[in-house]
Amino acid sequence: MKSHMPADPRRSSGRITFPDAFLWGTATAAYQIEGAYQEDGKGVSVWDTYCNDLGLARGASGNVAIDHYHRYPDDVALLAAMGVQSYRFSIAWTRILPDGTGAINQAGIDFYNRLINELIGAGIEPVITLYHWDLPQALADRGGWRNRASVEWFAEYAAIAFNAFGDRVTKWITFNEPYVNLMMLGAFIRAATDPSVAMPVSPTDIAGELMADQAIEVHHWLLAHARAVQTHRSLALAGDIGITLSIHPAYPANDTDADRAAVHIIDGLHNRWFLDPVLTGEYPADILDLYSAKADLGILDGDMALIAEHRADFLGVNYYSPAFVTADPAAPMFGVSTLPNTDEQPAFNGPVYPEGLYDLLTRIDADYGHPTMYITENGAGFGPVDDTLSDGAVNDTLRQDYITSHLEQAHRAIEDGVDLRGYFVWSCFDNFEWVFGYANRFGLIHVDFDTQQRTWKDSAFMYQRYIRDNGF
Ligand code: BGC
Repeated sequence: MKSHMPADPRRSSGRITFPDAFLWGTATAAYQIEGAYQEDGKGVSVWDTYCNDLGLARGASGNVAIDHYHRYPDDVALLAAMGVQSYRFSIAWTRILPDGTGAINQAGIDFYNRLINELIGAGIEPVITLYHWDLPQALADRGGWRNRASVEWFAEYAAIAFNAFGDRVTKWITFNEPYVNLMMLGAFIRAATDPSVAMPVSPTDIAGELMADQAIEVHHWLLAHARAVQTHRSLALAGDIGITLSIHPAYPANDTDADRAAVHIIDGLHNRWFLDPVLTGEYPADILDLYSAKADLGILDGDMALIAEHRADFLGVNYYSPAFVTADPAAPMFGVSTLPNTDEQPAFNGPVYPEGLYDLLTRIDADYGHPTMYITENGAGFGPVDDTLSDGAVNDTLRQDYITSHLEQAHRAIEDGVDLRGYFVWSCFDNFEWVFGYANRFGLIHVDFDTQQRTWKDSAFMYQRYIRDNGF
């Protein structure tokens, strides 16, 4: 499995052409790019607190980030020049509802109206993520996602956004990556903020107890997602609404029964726990048993019916890397663990394995009744070896290979009948990478974080050609 080398676009044979309606996009999230953290009535979000009060991002913060709040017209012009057809961004809940619920801040609505209109004016379709991790601090103070009332807080916020922007925005994503935010990153944040929780050694070493405990919050996200879908439909707005999940296809490290069984568990923890409720309305029974033995998940009568009844129109898939899994009775995550990344040029987000994208797309297609899908994030950062600005250029060969080889696999899946409608590179700009601060760059466009100068990397020129030719 691990012998794979990323495909080299210059070696690929034959032309690849995507379907005519295939949507070429890029993606960002509010806290990672906007800055202006105290401007125009914005409230405080948990990420403002994590960075400014708790120092969770190595002393960095999104206070300024890439100053997109002020520079959005220039940034949209850059996207237009690249030929990008669709732009996925998230709304900062605290710009619109500074306290999370209650009084609306019109200046926040106005900002997103300006951004949306700028995009549409440039011929770029806006795709909105309602929640990319920046919960209003006022709601965190009321228990955050642990409080079941969060379901209705979110429904209220979603309704305001639908009413304000739904006349022009026809693709909505409720949540970004429940697994990464609540279970992976969530475990580190809980350990950093709660002295009774031990800090995990690595993301694969998170205790099963903690995951089960966090599943309560996942359940509230899924209910909130269903309520938002229900609200969107009740408003009879044009367009579609979906959710974005991070999918980690899992493979046995060794060809043994024990490792194959471990794969089934990891696949359950990372993937099926989210795919099953979103696409079938039920939690997978095996993982439900594991979690229920450790925590009361707070699943009430009627919850699963609500989730089943209000299913998404499409699934957003974020894919970065697979998991190579081994059984390890001593491992705190239900006796399973994943191998460390041994790639020669390691990417920030795990082993590079483009075939994983093909495998996950065809698997979801087969197991979940041929859903409509978009790849809402895919991309890479490899550090200075690939990302150094020199003489006004960034020769990011590894990123180009990464994007090209993953597009090849996406195309293969389409050829095999998967209903894949578009692809969004993460990310158009270098930006604030959560707990890693500004150390990890993912952009097609280089940003000098001191001067805010934007410079096209070679990958941006490549992506421009791919969009222009609808393939390569
Ligand atoms: C997240 C992004 C993040 C990216 C790169 C995804 O899990 O949605 O916010 O920047 O990965 O690490």
